[in-house]
Amino acid sequence: MKLGVCYYPEQWPESMWADDIARMKEVGISFVRVGEFAWSRYEPEPLVYDWDWLARVLDLIHRAGLKAVLGTPTATPPHWLIKAHPEILPVGPDGQVRGFGSRRHYCFSSRLYRTYARRIVTAMAERFGQHPAVAVWQTDNEYGCHDTIISYSPEARLGFQAWCKDRYGTIAQLNRDWGNVFWSMEYEDFQAIELPNLTVTEANPSHRLAFWRYSSDQVVSFNQEQVAILRRLSPGRDLVHNYMGFFTQFDHFKVGRDLDIASWDSYPLGFLDQSWADREVKDTYLRTGHPDHTAFHHDLYRGVGRGRWWVMEQQPGPVNWAPHNPAPLPGMVRLWTWEAFAHGAEVVSYFRWRQAPFAQEQFHAGLNLPSNEPDRGYFEAQQVAEEIASLEPHAGDGRVVSEVAMIYDYASEWTLRVAPQGRSYDPLRWFMDVYASVRAFGHNVDIVPHDADFSRYRCVIIPNLAQVPAGLLLKLNAFKGRILIGPRSGSKTEELQIPPALPPGAWQSLIPLQVTRVESLPPHLAMPIAIDGVACTARCWREEVKTRLEPCASFADGWGAVYEHEKLTYMAACLDEQGLQAVLGKVLRRAGMEAIEGKRGLPYSRRGDLYFAFNYGPDTLTLAETHDYVIGQATLAPADLAVWKVT
Ligand code: GAL
Repeated sequence: MKLGVCYYPEQWPESMWADDIARMKEVGISFVRVGEFAWSRYEPEPLVYDWDWLARVLDLIHRAGLKAVLGTPTATPPHWLIKAHPEILPVGPDGQVRGFGSRRHYCFSSRLYRTYARRIVTAMAERFGQHPAVAVWQTDNEYGCHDTIISYSPEARLGFQAWCKDRYGTIAQLNRDWGNVFWSMEYEDFQAIELPNLTVTEANPSHRLAFWRYSSDQVVSFNQEQVAILRRLSPGRDLVHNYMGFFTQFDHFKVGRDLDIASWDSYPLGFLDQSWADREVKDTYLRTGHPDHTAFHHDLYRGVGRGRWWVMEQQPGPVNWAPHNPAPLPGMVRLWTWEAFAHGAEVVSYFRWRQAPFAQEQFHAGLNLPSNEPDRGYFEAQQVAEEIASLEPHAGDGRVVSEVAMIYDYASEWTLRVAPQGRSYDPLRWFMDVYASVRAFGHNVDIVPHDADFSRYRCVIIPNLAQVPAGLLLKLNAFKGRILIGPRSGSKTEELQIPPALPPGAWQSLIPLQVTRVESLPPHLAMPIAIDGVACTARCWREEVKTRLEPCASFADGWGAVYEHEKLTYMAACLDEQGLQAVLGKVLRRAGMEAIEGKRGLPYSRRGDLYFAFNYGPDTLTLAETHDYVIGQATLAPADLAVWKVT
């Protein structure tokens, strides 16, 4: 458990650097992330490099006994490059070129940009690959930030055509897989394929899904090119990328496989304000963030990192980019940091060391004010550093062990987004609803890809995996625990058609039922139902099912909501919190997992030999007096946490 900070020495006079590094050390920081936006200072003119300033920064970091996370600067191509080659710029869905003057102004499909990206990464790795301060390399910065995965450039079109040829082999196959006979959309050859923007009405969803897959693959290969260079020129260092919250537009599991560590950028207040939560929830958690959102991402990125993960950017105070940017409650920076550690983070790194008095993020807090006086986050980080020292002896092996796996799949999410059948169903929201309900029983959760190893889990939950991968079906056939499958699972083929035997497709080999009709509902409509005597409702989505099984619960119009068969439970509607609790309670009990009493509704986690509880709510809570507390006590004030030893 170590702390880090994001530092931009190129934005401050050199006379401040030594003092900055010395004070970082005083706070208890171990990792300093530098360099990810500084291309115009590394290569002010084509092939004219200036590395000396960065060498001086890295030397200072090294002499202080700290480690650096060095970022490749490819999120910010400099102006000379755009001036010489405007064709590397990305193109929006409206066909307009997105210009220079902020960041992420490149198209992943641009071969030329890739050449420049490889050139700068090579030069940087040749210069600093062996520097003793450099422990970790970060590739680029936040792939996809500001909606930049999908670009409709002429080169993306050419790349997509080649990708289609590779995937489908013949144009006849592509026409069949996409169902292009519908509306005479058939193509005569691969060169004729257009991008799925600027159509009169919606483009064919199979076409859109294919383009999404193509675009995601470009991110994977763009990242791989940097990885290959860094592995060769800087062996033995860990490679990481910083992913985002609520962002699903490329396959993070695939990018993650090429890296050593996953990391993500955690801004709980901004995320809540941007989220679907209703007004009351937003008001309640205005200054803490939502109690499940952060935990969800920790568990997801632990999966993306195959166990190794960091928070690369932790909100240190108010931010600048959400519709509204309130200040966190005093204590929340400390709480968020501990929550990440509770979910297994190796490092939590604050964004940023000092608030910038210029440019786009002037309103974004840092650990220090622009005047260089410490801001509140500074002291909270310092407190965490002291607490880590006192807690580490009790942490045991520090592993996060979960008995529940939830399968998340990016292509499945795109499938449900391009063919939504109604606006109110949001695939990520439904997934997170199910996640929150499992967590309410007090269990750790692993969020894993469909090709994970499930043998050590007691329960596998599949909220909405649209396609059924053959390998998964085989594994779950042999699986000994309980399985819960949600609506829309198995509802499409790989190419986004309705499966020949109807949804839930191949899941029918595990439960004999067919979905014959679906309906999406407006968001205000709640369909009442009782599940095991618990009054609850379904929202947004229901399915009518044909089966010989008796439903465990039915709506007034006779549609069933829940079906059970052997080890599998199928939900044929999106249930509310009470409904999910009723269904999950039974599934988990049958999996042999009792709810962990006394902590329901309180976000908490177990890591190694320690339990952690976090009070996100407005009221003071009371935990058991008998716990052996290492941090905190039985009385848990808002924005406070408690840690105790597992007995
Ligand atoms: C992240 C980004 C940082 C900074 C931060 C502000 O998205 O990686 O560079 O912009 O947000 O909250």
